[in-house]
Amino acid sequence: MSADAKPKAGLEDVVAGESAICYLDGERGVLAYQGYDVHDLANADRGASFEEVCYLLWHGRLPNRAELGDLQTQLAAARILPESIIRAMKSLPKVDGMDALRTLTSILHHYDPDANDNSIPASYRKAVRLTGQLGSLVATWGRLAAGQGAIDPDPALGHAANFLYTLTGTRPSALAARAFDVSLILHADHELNASTFAARVSAATLTDIHSTIVGAIGALKGPLHGGANAEVMKMLLDIGKDAGPEKAVEHVRGKLARKEKISGFGHRVYRTEDPRATHLRQMSKKLGEKSGEPQWYAMSERIEQLILAEKKLHANVDFYSASMFYSMGIPIDLYTPIFAVSRISGWTAHVLEQYKNNRLIRPRTDYIGPKYPQQFLALDQR
Ligand SMILES: CC(C)(COP(=O)(O)OP(=O)(O)OC[C@H]1O[C@@H](n2cnc3c(N)ncnc32)[C@H](O)[C@@H]1OP(=O)(O)O)[C@@H](O)C(=O)NCCC(=O)NCCS
Repeated sequence: MSADAKPKAGLEDVVAGESAICYLDGERGVLAYQGYDVHDLANADRGASFEEVCYLLWHGRLPNRAELGDLQTQLAAARILPESIIRAMKSLPKVDGMDALRTLTSILHHYDPDANDNSIPASYRKAVRLTGQLGSLVATWGRLAAGQGAIDPDPALGHAANFLYTLTGTRPSALAARAFDVSLILHADHELNASTFAARVSAATLTDIHSTIVGAIGALKGPLHGGANAEVMKMLLDIGKDAGPEKAVEHVRGKLARKEKISGFGHRVYRTEDPRATHLRQMSKKLGEKSGEPQWYAMSERIEQLILAEKKLHANVDFYSASMFYSMGIPIDLYTPIFAVSRISGWTAHVLEQYKNNRLIRPRTDYIGPKYPQQFLALDQR
């Protein structure tokens, strides 16, 4: 590769393929799934449900009532986890939620009726099952980690409400269910982000869909990607519940002075407000007030103003989702797994798209190692 053709570090701005799933304009702050603006899909009153968005990502169009009903029935069946998975969950040592999710997703493959069928129809069935299962996995993991028993999903509830019900044991309010539904919609897909790229690279070898998702979960776990939402909440808790916005500013100024990155800010693609943050900010405020702990939002708002003024960086998806999930009483260890509960829809849509028009993804490196050829010396001569 010639020097002037060299891509920027981290493959910044490199177009690595074609996709019909997600349109992202970082300059204008536009995010759209199959052409539908995420602001319309995530509208709190007139928007879509997460299940409609899943259908959209997988089929390229919104479902009619009958199609949505079929999908809801399939998801409801998938939410009932095999007993062997609950046993496997109980047998794990006390591990991080993302580690548990990665291991258990891999185990799910062994119990899937289509485990040995990598055809497109079978992979689609697995995509639907994985989407239903991941919600139950994360909620049940959360309950077991808190020393409580597993709760059976309720087929009458949608995906978001079921998640909250099987996590807390209480049927959520309409406000909480819709807020969580909207957060699932906002996290569903994001073009060629690191975990989706990892999934597509695996898919391009024609490996099975569970293997592609296990890799994606591993990539999402990192603090530069999905792991950032948990880091944001840890920072807010470090600052302290009663510290107030000015103490929060002082704390963050200290981090900036030490050249530390502030989780929840900055983005490789957006140069303006992350459209997902717009909704999450509003929901964080509303749910914070409702929970009687508005201080998390108040601190977050001041931190956002500071980072924008000092670093010209905007809040990303992970900043306000942290205080929003906290106000809903969700344990911090589940924040990044919840990202996966939603992103499984986008990951699987991309894997199916890759399978349908596949060529092995095998780029090159620019070699910067020792000059070739080096003289080889046998072990006893070195
Ligand atoms: C998202 C992220 C990984 C994008 O990284 P990137 O495109 O490689 O950008 P860089 O890390 O090269 O950052 C460019 C500059 O902005 C600064 N910057 C970027 N994000 C920052 C942050 N969150 N806090 C403080 N400074 C930040 C960098 O220090 C760098 O400054 P420099 O040029 O003076 O060295 C990065 O913004 C980040 O680490 N954010 C925090 C983690 C996070 O929230 N991840 C979730 C993403 S949705």
